[in-house]
Amino acid sequence: MTDPAPLRICGFAGSLRAGSLNRALLRAAKDLAPPGMAIDIFDLSEVPLYNADVEAAGDPEGVARFKAAIAAADGVLMVTPEYNHGVPGVMKNAVDWASRPPRGAPLGGKPVAIIGASPGMTGSARGQSQLRQAFEFTNSYCMPQPEILVSRAAEKFDPEGRLVDEATAKFLGGFLAAFEAWVRRFA
Ligand SMILES: Cc1cc2nc3c(=O)[nH]c(=O)nc-3n(C[C@H](O)[C@H](O)[C@H](O)COP(=O)(O)O)c2cc1C
Repeated sequence: MTDPAPLRICGFAGSLRAGSLNRALLRAAKDLAPPGMAIDIFDLSEVPLYNADVEAAGDPEGVARFKAAIAAADGVLMVTPEYNHGVPGVMKNAVDWASRPPRGAPLGGKPVAIIGASPGMTGSARGQSQLRQAFEFTNSYCMPQPEILVSRAAEKFDPEGRLVDEATAKFLGGFLAAFEAWVRRFA
């Protein structure tokens, strides 16, 4: 039997800073993706704040590119920090754009997965949990398990942002294999 075609995954991180732990985690996921999956990284700095007036005049270029990247993907990987026990505005704003228009939104019926990192002990748990709620409304299929909460993340990446913690790399590889199986359920 021939192998199935590799899945295309759109991945983005909800932090804009160059030294972001979550952007580093996304790069690690791209490197550790199983052979049946390719992760294309989208940079959310291209996506402005949601404004229904702007939307009514036509999606700005960055938004159009972002929505097209999700629409063309078989699944979506979101890497979220946690801000004030919730999902940061950068990430929520991106989800809000991708939930539009309500009929035919790029996120509608799309398999998604969430991971995240924080320097503290809870590893973005509350941010991930809050982000998950959005997919009830967008009608996206959010993988329930496994979960990855990268705690004390500053110790797990080197100064260049490379994942150097072997246990985290192993968990991440297993998570991505599970996500491949999850996405193939909807293919
Ligand atoms: C406004 C703000 C709120 C934060 N709130 C939390 C929080 O509730 N829980 C937590 O674990 N870390 C919190 N942090 C720390 C972030 O987890 C930390 O800055 C992390 O490195 C951000 O992700 P990044 O490295 O991908 O940019 C907060 C940081 C900021 C700037």
